[in-house]
Amino acid sequence: MKGKTKYVAFSTQKGGAGKTTITVLVASYLHYVKGYNVAVIDCDYPQHSILEMRDRDLKLAMEDQYYKGLAYEQFTRLNKKAYPVVESNTKMALADTEPLLSHVDLDFIFFDLPGTINDHDLIYTLARMDYIIAPISADRVVVESTLNFIVAIKEHLIDKGKSDIKGLYMLWNMVDGREKSELYEVYEQVMKELGLPILRMFLPDTKRFRREQSLSRRAVFRSTLFPADKSLLRGSHLEELVDELIELFK
Ligand SMILES: Nc1ncnc2c1ncn2[C@@H]1O[C@H](COP(=O)(O)OP(=O)(O)OP(=O)(O)O)[C@@H](O)[C@H]1O
Ligand SMILES: [Mg+2]
Repeated sequence: MKGKTKYVAFSTQKGGAGKTTITVLVASYLHYVKGYNVAVIDCDYPQHSILEMRDRDLKLAMEDQYYKGLAYEQFTRLNKKAYPVVESNTKMALADTEPLLSHVDLDFIFFDLPGTINDHDLIYTLARMDYIIAPISADRVVVESTLNFIVAIKEHLIDKGKSDIKGLYMLWNMVDGREKSELYEVYEQVMKELGLPILRMFLPDTKRFRREQSLSRRAVFRSTLFPADKSLLRGSHLEELVDELIELFK
């Protein structure tokens, strides 16, 4: 994709909503399957879950013959490197993109931001995103608190013209069962009234979202070195979500 690098954050104040998981899944799919160049700024201090994941992924890719072979095949075929994962925090996140921008043509930079509120630096960084996607699950308490947070971003940053944000979308994650129940319609109506668009694609609640590289060598879903395995894509909606996002980010 030619043009300006797009800044994207899967962000919400709610812990465990899927920010880190979705960031990795989408980044890996875009970078290793869809031919885009991405980078990740890991601001989730002090856990730095994506950096830790990259370390685990790399270790197995170097020590285990199976992953070594997979990595060799993939990286020769693609003729590019794994995407960078940069250790950062909400204060330094934007400055930390500069070294990246100077030497590669990046289509997307994903920011894994912490779920803290009342963090001035977080708000400042969020305001510089091009797109914010808020993962949310259909639980009354989660919906109420998440909508409070998102409406605050909308009113204070977007509506006042104080940000670069071009789109703010809700994303249903951990949807139980194959179809969304009626409950979702009720919540979606509320979001509509608040002027918050919802992505068409939702992510189901399935164990494969936790499936990483492991000594068992089973097909991998969540990895910073490989895209989700084809055999696990069906019903995960990952591919469909990525396609929807590509359309939105155009
Ligand atoms: N669609 C899903 N189905 C099943 N499990 C999921 C799904 N999405 C995320 N998870 C799991 O939920 C847990 C929390 O996800 P994750 O760590 O990505 O959330 P987070 O928003 O980054 O949390 P934190 O606020 O702690 O940074 C993880 O164990 C992850 O594997
Ligand atoms: Mg996280």
